Amino acid sequence: MQNFVFGSPFTSQKLPLKNAAGFIGSEQLPDCLKGCEVVVIPAGVPRKPGMTRDDLFNTNATIVANLTSACAKHCPEAMICIIANPVNSTIPITSELFKKHGVYNPNRIFGVTTLDIVRANTFVAELKGLDPARVNVPVIGGHAGKTIIPLISQCTPKVEFPQDQLETLTGRIQEAGTEVVKAKAGAGSATLSMAYAGARFVFSVLDAMNGKEGVIECSFVRKNGIEKNLGIGKISPYEEKMIAEAMTELKASIKKGEEFVKSMK
Ligand code: 2OP
Repeated sequence: MQNFVFGSPFTSQKLPLKNAAGFIGSEQLPDCLKGCEVVVIPAGVPRKPGMTRDDLFNTNATIVANLTSACAKHCPEAMICIIANPVNSTIPITSELFKKHGVYNPNRIFGVTTLDIVRANTFVAELKGLDPARVNVPVIGGHAGKTIIPLISQCTPKVEFPQDQLETLTGRIQEAGTEVVKAKAGAGSATLSMAYAGARFVFSVLDAMNGKEGVIECSFVRKNGIEKNLGIGKISPYEEKMIAEAMTELKASIKKGEEFVKSMK
């Protein structure tokens, strides 16, 4: 997950307004996707208490693979925004499928991790008595447990916490999705907050495609953002340690996604 800024490559492309239309079933998928400039994929099953996001792999990998294969065929130029979990593997799946079809562009495939940013902003705001809408914590890494790395040292406005409080806060951000799954006791995972976060991300994509400048979002991406990868900036030793600890899990999830595509007929 990296911070990136959208911008100028899209300034000349004004989105045409199309009539809304409904489609259903795999046989209508090609018509649904033809001409799409942005595709958002929240499809898949949610977690139940005790499950990790990775436990969803077997079911959701196939769902995402079928949908993104169709995207590669019918709208290879579209911005593909994936919400379906495990995001740490569904993005590699999408990337590998786009490669298989010879249409891969890493600047157009995004894992939507905005909910981690929304949660980080909210929890920091609560602790500091700030307006969450005015707090901005970049979150890098992936979208599962320890791979979620909030960079509180880069928060705006600048905030400081004693190390023990920082660790509790970081842990809460990393496990906030699990907190929701537990609270819903079998009735699914985050829905309204995910919808809010997904909408925020997609509005940012649309704003950028319509030529707005300086639109910044974090996302789980291959390397580059659309216009400019802002990298991870200056981080604290605690954050460096978190990144090192996240790497093994993140690399394994990426490999799992890649292997899945290799095993597909
Ligand atoms: C979450 O973090 C559903 O993965 C999503 O709540």
